[in-house]
Amino acid sequence: MRKSIDLNIAYRLIGSGPLVLVSSLLDGRAGLTPIAWNMPVSDEPPIIALEIWEKHFIYKAILETGDFVVNIPSSDMAETCRKLGSVSGAKVDKFGEFGLVKEESKKIKSPRLGSAIGVLECKLRREKAILEKYNIVLGDVVYAEAEESVFTDRWVIESDGPRIMHHLGGKLFYAPDRRII
Ligand SMILES: Cc1cc2nc3c(=O)[nH]c(=O)nc-3n(C[C@H](O)[C@H](O)[C@H](O)COP(=O)(O)O)c2cc1C
Repeated sequence: MRKSIDLNIAYRLIGSGPLVLVSSLLDGRAGLTPIAWNMPVSDEPPIIALEIWEKHFIYKAILETGDFVVNIPSSDMAETCRKLGSVSGAKVDKFGEFGLVKEESKKIKSPRLGSAIGVLECKLRREKAILEKYNIVLGDVVYAEAEESVFTDRWVIESDGPRIMHHLGGKLFYAPDRRII
């Protein structure tokens, strides 16, 4: 038997993509923000979407810089990700505070997270209507990399090694580890 679900957590029934850490620059300062609400929009051309509250440091940074990196952390970074989501880049240098290594991107100005198991370098699509009405940030993926031990032409979740993780809500995350054929 199904039970009714509060509408403010109904989104948890469909979940989202893997938890990502979005990096960009504002006035030369780097931000790094956990974003659970993300999805691919098109593979040709490659476009992705992020849902980001407009008060976040990273939202302002993306609008200023015009580009951003979607960094995919491994599941052993869950605790750090939670902490990164409890402070603002407006007040804290998150890379420095959490001992995270910044590296230069190949094609854009925003820095990348050195320890990420995957990165998508993106240029902002200035789609004013959905950006301002729904806070949906669209990006053209201009370059991507992934850790070869865990990504072939897909995430290899069935062998040992670092894994992507998803956010269940609150302090809970999960890492998928069962392949279904
Ligand atoms: C696991 C997790 C997932 C989050 N997902 C989102 C999200 O999808 N969209 C969003 O706007 N904020 C999300 N947040 C909240 C921001 O990451 C958080 O408020 C952060 O401190 C904002 O940092 P900034 O001001 O430096 O950008 C999430 C936080 C956590 C911990």
